[in-house]
Amino acid sequence: MSAGKHVFITGGASGIGLAIGKYFATKGYVVTLSDVNGDTLAGAARSLEGEGIRVNCHVMDVTNQSQVDALPEQMETPIDILINNAGIQHVSPLEDFPEDRWKLLIDIMLTAPAMLTRALLPSMRQRGYGRIINVGSIHSLVASPYKSAYVAAKHGLLGFAKTVALETGDTDITINTLCPSYVLTPLVENQIADQARTNGISEDEVVKDIMLAPMPKKAFIQFEELAETALFLASPQARNITAQAIVIDGGWTAR
Ligand SMILES: NC(=O)c1ccc[n+]([C@@H]2O[C@H](COP(=O)([O-])OP(=O)(O)OC[C@H]3O[C@@H](n4cnc5c(N)ncnc54)[C@H](O)[C@@H]3O)[C@@H](O)[C@H]2O)c1
Repeated sequence: MSAGKHVFITGGASGIGLAIGKYFATKGYVVTLSDVNGDTLAGAARSLEGEGIRVNCHVMDVTNQSQVDALPEQMETPIDILINNAGIQHVSPLEDFPEDRWKLLIDIMLTAPAMLTRALLPSMRQRGYGRIINVGSIHSLVASPYKSAYVAAKHGLLGFAKTVALETGDTDITINTLCPSYVLTPLVENQIADQARTNGISEDEVVKDIMLAPMPKKAFIQFEELAETALFLASPQARNITAQAIVIDGGWTAR
């Protein structure tokens, strides 16, 4: 166990980031949840506090380079574990994909994890320990139509992680990418509604016939499965697991 270490999670106000943060906090880690949306973040922290769980909050837009660069000096204690989780989706055929949206997805889900890692590596190196955990996706490994920016960003994370793993082989720093298939979060709930509208089918049909169809297990991935995997990656026992895609996909990629 690495309890007492400081874990910093981007996109921590909602969904997977919030759930992982909660899990780490209950295991004795110091948790900072960060998000661009200050109100949602404050609400999430208040609701955790209602459950007796204390977390720090840090409002930051991961695409804002000066905010990213200022991060190490703004933290009271150095960050040991960085979870690059912030993400958005945009679904559109490439021909109609707005250029600004394409670039924004790449900025949030590929460039920002790189720039955050760059900002935090020096102090991780200095203290001889660091864990970088990217929240990738099954779309780090396979594609779906109309998600070109998302798929490109998530594939890119794997190449980025391999490179940093080679650059940090001389110390106890690892970098890995969690690759879950669908998890029921606000991001996915919005997609269910969108796809039902676009395809003229019910939301139940979107879940059954589109989302869960490629997964032999036919179930959404649960938060605890991701959080427990991240917890293991943070542990000393995972010191030789680096540059890996950790695939939690209900068997999707078996075909
Ligand atoms: N939900 C799924 O099925 C699923 C599957 C695979 C991977 N993922 C990945 O998990 C991560 C979290 O997704 P989620 O489903 O929990 O979504 P979510 O929408 O519930 O949470 C994403 C959070 O990221 C924040 N965010 C967006 N842009 C930001 C920015 N510029 N700076 C800082 N924060 C920003 C949002 O405010 C939000 O709180 C994403 O990277 C997503 O691609 C999700």
